[in-house]
Amino acid sequence: MSSSLSDSENNIPSTSTDELQFHMDDDQIMIETSAAEKSNASVQQDDTTDEIWRNIENSRVRFPMTRDDHRQGLKRSTTLKSPNLTGPEGEVVIPTTDHDSSKQSASASPMGTDGVGGGRDGESSDKDKSGRGSLDNKTILKPSPSVGTSLLNLVTEATSAKSNGTESSSSSMMDEAWERLRSSFVYFQKKPVGTLAALDPSAEALNYNQAILQVFVRDFVPTALACLMRVPDPEPEIVKNFLLKTLHLQGWKKTIDNFTLGEGVMPASFKVMYDSYQEKDVLKADFGGSAIGRVAPVDSGFWWIILLRSYTKCTGDYTLSERPEVQKGMKLILNLCLSDGFDTFPTLLCADGCSMIDRRMGIYGYPIEIQALFFFALRCAQQMLKQDSDSNRLIERIERRITALSYHIRNYYWLDFTQLNNIYRYKTEEYSHTAVNKFNVIPESIPDWVFDFMPLRGGYFIGNVSPARMDFRWFLIGNCIAILSSLATLAQATAIMDLVEERWEDLIGEMPLKIAYPALEGYQWRIVTGCDPKNIRWSYHNGGSWPVLLWLLTAACIKAGRPQIAKRAIELVEQRLSKDGWPEYYDGKKGRYIGKQARKYQTWSISGYLVAKLMIENPSNLAMISLEEDKKIEKPRLTRSASWSCSR
Ligand code: GLC
Repeated sequence: MSSSLSDSENNIPSTSTDELQFHMDDDQIMIETSAAEKSNASVQQDDTTDEIWRNIENSRVRFPMTRDDHRQGLKRSTTLKSPNLTGPEGEVVIPTTDHDSSKQSASASPMGTDGVGGGRDGESSDKDKSGRGSLDNKTILKPSPSVGTSLLNLVTEATSAKSNGTESSSSSMMDEAWERLRSSFVYFQKKPVGTLAALDPSAEALNYNQAILQVFVRDFVPTALACLMRVPDPEPEIVKNFLLKTLHLQGWKKTIDNFTLGEGVMPASFKVMYDSYQEKDVLKADFGGSAIGRVAPVDSGFWWIILLRSYTKCTGDYTLSERPEVQKGMKLILNLCLSDGFDTFPTLLCADGCSMIDRRMGIYGYPIEIQALFFFALRCAQQMLKQDSDSNRLIERIERRITALSYHIRNYYWLDFTQLNNIYRYKTEEYSHTAVNKFNVIPESIPDWVFDFMPLRGGYFIGNVSPARMDFRWFLIGNCIAILSSLATLAQATAIMDLVEERWEDLIGEMPLKIAYPALEGYQWRIVTGCDPKNIRWSYHNGGSWPVLLWLLTAACIKAGRPQIAKRAIELVEQRLSKDGWPEYYDGKKGRYIGKQARKYQTWSISGYLVAKLMIENPSNLAMISLEEDKKIEKPRLTRSASWSCSR
């Protein structure tokens, strides 16, 4: 702790503003002392230092850490202060709840809001004390270069919104969201272990009911974050239970049609059923065998590792990640992805439908969404794996893969105006290692829309890169995760934000956010989706707009120092989402229409909104789901065959 203290002291720069500031320079969240505090400092130095530390504790801000000490970095984060959460040894004590599981299959919370959380949810004054409290302390972010404003403006706007009533409608939307979220809790032997995909009373079709009664691993991530960020009473218990339950499911033997899946595969979803013969709750898991297309979810394991870090970072409860079975679970996931094979790329080869886009959409190969999650999970695991003789080789492999993966993605997936022009002029059939056009991409394969879409200012990671194939589509998740994990360099993160601004109408439109852009139409839709009626143009995964993605955009905007962009998107969501019944997705070029087959009261639409709000209100929450830049990773250099090396 002492070294972290001295680091942080050295890093407290002066500022002419009168506030405590968040400073996003160098991808680190740092605290700056105000001029006013400085003048007080000479008189009351000790008090001021105490005050700063208090502010840090209150906002759970972490100081920059020694660059190469990741594990220590994780440990130096401040912890939840709620007295009833921390035991004498600093361990997390799970508050006892009187949650009851009705003895029904996949039981949703029987309490509704009054029994469980009604009282605690309706705490607007408490919210002011804690969540918005840090904003009231005028915690601000670095001004956004393009918007010319900062989070300070958000505070001012929030104050004026309060007086003109916007604030109260937004806070009643938050209250409604918490209520709905709590009613979607699923209990296993009286303990909350996850949330239902949706609580849509109108979804009567058998398939729909089947799907919504499940706890999807990826869907639970924003719910988990909302529970961790909740003020004044965070709810880490459900997150811990979820992590342990899914870990338990990972241990099952997974066989589909006589074929056994890898040991480390995590489920896509699970159900809680009541076995009336044994008179107890039992679990039923799906590893892809029941999914459309029978594809295993490659993203589940990565989200699991990322969430484990968020939980640890938020609670300071290291006992969970250090448990032998949790360490083993992490290793099994990593072994699946780090095994040697025929690959010549560090990216992970995937089947179509292996992620949030879980139907055929032409993302097979090396989709950015999975590559960014892979990178994020590797870096999180690097912080959490305990060093011992058994793990050291794995840790070395992780380090090597992180380096190679970041090089590959930063160089070959990156597209901006200059790079597009380079590709447009590519020569083909370059055989030797001196090739510039390494994947033999034929310039004629560049779709027309990219030339119009690409602004002079801005850029993004394209969807996929493989031999003679660049998928130029924009995918939001991959780009946001690249920012959060610092896979994107600072310049790239800024350019992604520029692109979102420049192409606001296309990517955000009337309802945030497009999962992918543009839509596949006509002939392409027939060939690529296999004529999927759910994925018709500008619908569902094919250019549909998903409110859940709001949390990812917000986190990425805060990380890139551009919270104003997120604020605009949140305002759009607030105009319709609750009135429309929290749909799963919207259709249309601008996202104007509620999705053709969208479920209502979709849990991750609800929790995605909550997380976005909780982060905008208290940007220090970002630390739970973001990693600072690893300075050891080389910056991209697009030189002729810079990556080529061969030793004898
Ligand atoms: C749909 C989505 C998938 C999600 C599931 C549950 O299948 O494509 O990403 O996990 O619904 O909401």
